[in-house]
Amino acid sequence: MADLRQYDARANELIARMSLDEKLGQMTQPERMHISPEDVRRHHIGSVLSGGGSWPGANVPADWVAMNDAYWEATVANDGDDDGVAIPILYGVDAVHGHNNVRGATLFPHNIGLGAARDPGLIERIARTTAREVLATGVEWTFAPTLAVVRDDHWGRTYESYSEDPEIVAAYAAAFVRGLQGDLGEDGLVACAKHWVGDGGTTGGVDQGETTIPEDELRRFHIAPYLQALSAGVLTVMASYNSWNGEKCHGHEYLLSDVLKGELGFDGFVVSDWDGIDQIDDDYDESVARGVLAGVDMFMVPEKWRDFIGALRAHVESGRVPMERIDDAVRRILRVKLAYRLFDRQRPADRRWSNHESFGGDEHRAVAREAVRKSLVLLKNDDGALPVDRGARILVAGKSAHDRGHQSGGFSLAWQGQSGNDHIEGGTSIWEGIEAIAPGAVLSPDGSAADTGEFDVAILAIGERPYAEGMGDVRTSQFVARGSGLAQNIPGAGKLAPYGATLEHRVSHPEDLATIERVRAAGIPVITVLVSGRPLVVNAELDASTAFVAAWLPGSEGQGVADVLFGDHDFQGRLSFSWPHRDEDLPNRGDDPDVSLFPYGYGLTYR
Ligand code: GLC
Repeated sequence: MADLRQYDARANELIARMSLDEKLGQMTQPERMHISPEDVRRHHIGSVLSGGGSWPGANVPADWVAMNDAYWEATVANDGDDDGVAIPILYGVDAVHGHNNVRGATLFPHNIGLGAARDPGLIERIARTTAREVLATGVEWTFAPTLAVVRDDHWGRTYESYSEDPEIVAAYAAAFVRGLQGDLGEDGLVACAKHWVGDGGTTGGVDQGETTIPEDELRRFHIAPYLQALSAGVLTVMASYNSWNGEKCHGHEYLLSDVLKGELGFDGFVVSDWDGIDQIDDDYDESVARGVLAGVDMFMVPEKWRDFIGALRAHVESGRVPMERIDDAVRRILRVKLAYRLFDRQRPADRRWSNHESFGGDEHRAVAREAVRKSLVLLKNDDGALPVDRGARILVAGKSAHDRGHQSGGFSLAWQGQSGNDHIEGGTSIWEGIEAIAPGAVLSPDGSAADTGEFDVAILAIGERPYAEGMGDVRTSQFVARGSGLAQNIPGAGKLAPYGATLEHRVSHPEDLATIERVRAAGIPVITVLVSGRPLVVNAELDASTAFVAAWLPGSEGQGVADVLFGDHDFQGRLSFSWPHRDEDLPNRGDDPDVSLFPYGYGLTYR
């Protein structure tokens, strides 16, 4: 890990000149909808973020650059006797599968598909390409990579995880951080490993839930990938919403300060999750004190940043939070800003990659298309149904065949994602990819054309509709905690229900089995492509299909699916998650006995 302490002398000089208000401002991260550049200047704010679905203007790179220019100006103008020390702002986004908040960005497969690809070199190129697109918007920091090791696929964030096993997650952690951060020069971004720690281990896969496991298991499964991210020099870490053995991670001094910062030697800063400190205690002031004392350095307080600053100031004045802890937090934030050479960077508009034409361009999309090809897992291929002969009479059906929104999943323009094609500009749906290779193919989403036409084979894309975080949970209790992102974008926000009550696909999406059966009843062999954020119980759909492909959430480049279905490329993906046979089974690698339908590592090829 890069030695961040080399920046301490410079950081200490700055700290010595800072007032308490300036220090508290550095530790505060509001959301862009809730803070103006003028307030950033007045309150000496250290960082601003965009939540899922939050963007400036018409949401093209130029709008983002202009916004960041204004925030930057507000912080560096902060010089002189009255205004205090000039400390440039660090702007953060969730670029978790490409720069997924921005119109026309290249959207990569979500992490679950990348886990199947088993290709750390590809991961590094994806991270580098993502960094370019984020830099094109004048942004410096992304809350990625997610290092969750998901043990229960009912969790709504399963797709954000590379694998149920720490091996792949650890191998990717270093590659992704290297790709994003580079040498911290003009090509690099600040990365953020999240969510520390145990987010993938909650009972029932409940989002923001409780992880009840002994410490050696926490270390073996959930902490292990962080060692790789840390040795690759990751500059920031995000605290997790979950609790470990009854204590919320945001208030967990042992995990944040003793293990992460002490034992593992992390000298960067810890950022909270979105209002993540609120769950420490029912009393907000108490939560603030316990969060900062436990070791959170920067607080993602999207809306109520003024309350946060007031509460923290009162704790410092009363002596509950010692000034040394404040200075330590600010020093850590300054170390990261210095290591990233933020003080030497030009204004966002003048940086090398700002507004760069490569944003959303062919070169970037080629990397995503390669990732799609490599992420597909072939689960069944009877009678050599695949590859499809491009001269055959092909029917294309299923609700996700022509839906770039479905194939991109959550965190795609909208926080929760969205059905349809219009909001994902550029790229190809799975249907568009097929049509490009086999121009005679016929699209019939509900499969009704099967009854009238003559077809040799049908390709059906079925699966889940988009979701994010707790709204993707599969469980029986009705309502979920709100989590992050912009509730404004969600009809009925405030009553956010989970996705469903079972992983059994024919129960949550009977329309998909109906489409398969309709096509099969017409005597046409069915090749099913499952578009989903996790393995699902699909015994009935598998039985009714001649061939079956797990495509995960491929993102904007549906062409990559067609590339493999027609045999231009072979399958390379192997399951990084055990495939369940029944909803109540929670199969994971190494279980004895292994009750999975398809084990970890499974995946057929053409050879
Ligand atoms: C969230 C997520 C986190 C994300 C943050 C900012 O609630 O848990 O992954 O980075 O908000 O949008």
